Amino acid sequence: MKIDILTLFPNMFDGFLNESIIKRAISKKLVEINIHNIRYYSKDPHKKVDDYGYGGGAGMVLMPQPIFDAVDDLRTDDCKVILMTPQGEKYNQNMAYKFSNYKHLIIICGHYEGFDERIRNIVDIEISIGDYVLTGGEIPAMVVSDSIIRLIDGVIKEDSHLNDSFNNNLLDYPEYTHPSDFRGMKVPDILLSGHHANIEKWRLEEQIKRTKERRPDLLEKR
Ligand code: ADE
Repeated sequence: MKIDILTLFPNMFDGFLNESIIKRAISKKLVEINIHNIRYYSKDPHKKVDDYGYGGGAGMVLMPQPIFDAVDDLRTDDCKVILMTPQGEKYNQNMAYKFSNYKHLIIICGHYEGFDERIRNIVDIEISIGDYVLTGGEIPAMVVSDSIIRLIDGVIKEDSHLNDSFNNNLLDYPEYTHPSDFRGMKVPDILLSGHHANIEKWRLEEQIKRTKERRPDLLEKR
């Protein structure tokens, strides 16, 4: 899979690309991620990328020209163009699964007060990562990319994400590691029993109990 990210702040991605699982996925060539500075595509002599909005109002608006040119340059036959915006469809794990099957994504990070409305014409999907407003689309682009990349075959062990919270609309079961007694807080006996069928049954019961308590809305979707 290839992910092209269009941003005004490429350095924000340094940590994301150079640590942990994402770094390993890149070096194993399971994913190619390219960060593109929108300013590079500006045809303005001063490399301007934003301007005052028509009709007045606070803040600068991202101009269409650099974004249109960047997408024209990067587009392939089999690609989806995603715009990060708080006005988009609310992101979830099912969308992550769907996107992990795409060959090529172009992700546009919005910034400042907004972007020219005409940019929407070249976008396939608008995504919000939640009902709050961030300073830009960079963190949302990392959230979406991370959630997709970990689902690509070979990036993490398959059974690590088969039990993820949200699969089957259930939250994950509780996990414990050593020691079995920490400051008087004991690991449930069933997990020490070695009885796999009983452990599986207990885990499913815990998943249902936890989802009922914390996210009853998910149970309704089941
Ligand atoms: N840009 C600013 N806030 C955002 C959000 N919640 N989701 C996606 N993009 C954004």
